[in-house]
Amino acid sequence: NEVIVIKDNKIINKKIETSDITKEAKDKNGYKYYMLKEIMEEPVVLEKTLEKYLSNKEELPDISSYEEIHIVACGSAMYAGLIGKSLLSEYANKKVIVEVASEYRYQNIIYDRKTLVILISQSGETADTIAAMRKAKENNIDTLAIVNVKTSTIARESDKKLYIEAGPEIAVATTKAYILQVAVLSLLALKATKSITLEEKDNIIEEIKNLPKMLKNILDKKQEYFEIAKKIYKEENIFFIGRKIDYAICMEGSLKLKEVSYIHSEAYQAGELKHGTISLIEENTVVFAVITEDDIKDKTISNIKEVMSRGAKIFIISNDTYQGKNQVTVPKINAFMQPILVVPVLQLIAFETARLRNCDIDKPKNLAKSVTVE
Ligand code: G6P
Repeated sequence: NEVIVIKDNKIINKKIETSDITKEAKDKNGYKYYMLKEIMEEPVVLEKTLEKYLSNKEELPDISSYEEIHIVACGSAMYAGLIGKSLLSEYANKKVIVEVASEYRYQNIIYDRKTLVILISQSGETADTIAAMRKAKENNIDTLAIVNVKTSTIARESDKKLYIEAGPEIAVATTKAYILQVAVLSLLALKATKSITLEEKDNIIEEIKNLPKMLKNILDKKQEYFEIAKKIYKEENIFFIGRKIDYAICMEGSLKLKEVSYIHSEAYQAGELKHGTISLIEENTVVFAVITEDDIKDKTISNIKEVMSRGAKIFIISNDTYQGKNQVTVPKINAFMQPILVVPVLQLIAFETARLRNCDIDKPKNLAKSVTVE
């Protein structure tokens, strides 16, 4: 059970660990693309991950006593962090900053309050995220990792770890792991929220148990997303607009689209458009708008009207009765879990668009699954 390896002129005995990855988990299982297979797996892996934390098989830490929370990650994991920030600040009254790891590691971070650094990484091997984790540890700051690969560096070195149960993710553009990162952050935020009664929390948890089924229904409407892809796949510029958590959702939707379809796309806070970017909106420019936040809905709708009056072609993803043309409506659920019903729609639109453009979907040019160098 052991092998001898030589590292830095030293002999080291290493225990052989056998991977528990099944053939089924790493095969395409009849799908032509890993990306599609992994999106379609979301309800199953979500159920597994939620069950683990809701049944207390693995206890979620209560992070409410930290005065400040830093969420540090790269790429989609950072955008999952933006959703975590929205929920933790809005409901758990926490001061949260989200920073990309490549910036965080070199910034002058002032640790003057009781701080928790949350690292998010699918692979657990992203060089910048590892460096950010080590920086926090050198400053004696508690670290908590939300990670998929259990044998990874981040899983080994962080103080606390919460594993998502995505199984192997092979397509370069993350989909199921992102959804689970959001799910775990949402559960952490729910646990840290003190402003709602226990009974309200129980109701939310009951609702969360239905989430995998609701997500499956959304994924089953692939044809609807294909119809949208057919309308946008020839574009070269696409915008996404939203406010608050809807903006965080837009960031991931935009990243997914550009990664796999090579269409230039930008996500903007809807209220910020007027400070520059609106100059790019002209007749037939495609703009996706996400509207799930009740309290800010009217503001986003007025931004939609602004771009429409300049000729934009609007596509709306919403959870309520705002009825426009080209709208995908997802069921309404508690704020903690709403993004999990919206982002998969954007993932499938990105996938279908990339397919129509004949892109190398699972291995987009210039990208790597895990960026282990700086
Ligand atoms: C790469 C991948 C992205 C991923 C990012 C962070 O850029 O292409 O999909 O979000 O790395 O990876 P991690 O493994 O740290 O989550």
